[in-house]
Amino acid sequence: MPVTVIVGSQWGDEGKGKIVDLVSQSADVVARYQGGANAGHTVVVAGKKRVLHLIPSGILNPDCVCLLGSGMVIDPALMLDEIDQLEKGGVSVDGRLFVSHRAHLIMPYHKTLDALNEKSLGSRAIGVTGRGIGPAYTDKYTRIGIRIVDLLDRDLFIEKLDANIRAKNRIIHELMGEPEIDREAVIKYYLDFDRRIDPLVKDVSIYLNDAVDAGKQVLCEGAQGTLLDVDWGTYPFVTSSHPTAGGAVIGLGIGPTAITKVLGVVKAYTTRVGQGPFPTEFDETLNRKIRDAGDEYGATTGRARRCGWFDAVIARYAARINGVGAWALTKLDVLSDLDTLQICVAYEYNGRRIEHFPAELRILESCRPIYEEMPGWRVPISDTRNFEDLPAAAQRYIRRIEEITNRPVEIISVGSERSQTILKAGV
Ligand code: IMP
Repeated sequence: MPVTVIVGSQWGDEGKGKIVDLVSQSADVVARYQGGANAGHTVVVAGKKRVLHLIPSGILNPDCVCLLGSGMVIDPALMLDEIDQLEKGGVSVDGRLFVSHRAHLIMPYHKTLDALNEKSLGSRAIGVTGRGIGPAYTDKYTRIGIRIVDLLDRDLFIEKLDANIRAKNRIIHELMGEPEIDREAVIKYYLDFDRRIDPLVKDVSIYLNDAVDAGKQVLCEGAQGTLLDVDWGTYPFVTSSHPTAGGAVIGLGIGPTAITKVLGVVKAYTTRVGQGPFPTEFDETLNRKIRDAGDEYGATTGRARRCGWFDAVIARYAARINGVGAWALTKLDVLSDLDTLQICVAYEYNGRRIEHFPAELRILESCRPIYEEMPGWRVPISDTRNFEDLPAAAQRYIRRIEEITNRPVEIISVGSERSQTILKAGV
């Protein structure tokens, strides 16, 4: 710190929730910069599991202020539900949860359109989470989106909403034959939300810059991962925002020079949900084994995740795009029951060795991973708390990842509990 960005360095689900929770123990402010309730960050403290979709996992640290940035798209129902669940579970958000007045709102019609778009893509469907993310960002970039700040002027809000409802009904009702959007219900719902959201609305940029000036420790939390970034991911199989570290600058209103460290979160293997190429994907048997060992089911959708070997081409790409200074390596314990492990060090394409992650999906689809084989350790490691106490083979695996990505591993997660963590020398 003082300003650290925590960024997913694969296809999301790297275990950022746990790492943010851990690092936020020494943070004053945690700010989420993009995406919406498509994320699902799981945190386990003292045996109690919580899944957060919108609110940063730093909320579990009672001394931490949490911010939802302008780069986010906010689903009011889910946000209020998350607040209620936290309060019921004894976590007070009072005076320490704020949302940017520039953040965009997810409307019910965004979710309807998300489902309809996906259906119309047929076999080319993206595999979206159905949380209305793509359509909400579409409205933002076509400049018809509705922002939190619009709720402050009721007449303007209703005027904008009416225009949107008319336009969406032409697609949803007239073109697709689905039921019309119920204007009155939508208006009532958002005006009710307005009453509860009012005390939470803040200029997040001013708050954050003041915090930085005051020498506070700030953590910027990315959702999803580098390969789901709309510019840098495996387009079109991506989300509609910028999970990469650059997204923190835009989504929070801080200058690039404010960022002092980027911590990349990588799983000790690779996973992805939804469609799209995945060079190191396991065969079905190993997929099932690791999926079960690692509980690789989506925290938001419950979908089974696809699993594969650690891919250093991806990690190096993420290190470059995000300016990663060090890694948090997660779920190492999940690999404890294997005789041998493979690390993909490069790809082979058309008889040539490729070191860089390709932009062209057709090329990626045809890439064959070049593996290095390493011995497994075959003993449980979840109770290990020091790097030196890890089995020699596990230490070698981590050191090899450091070598081929040219970045140190600072944090090693060996279980879902906050305490099941190894802080490697140098942290
Ligand atoms: P959307 O963000 O719902 O539009 O989904 C676009 C793509 O991103 C789909 O392949 C989703 O499975 C994927 N995706 C979105 N959020 C997450 C996440 O938090 N973890 C992993 N994949 C995600």
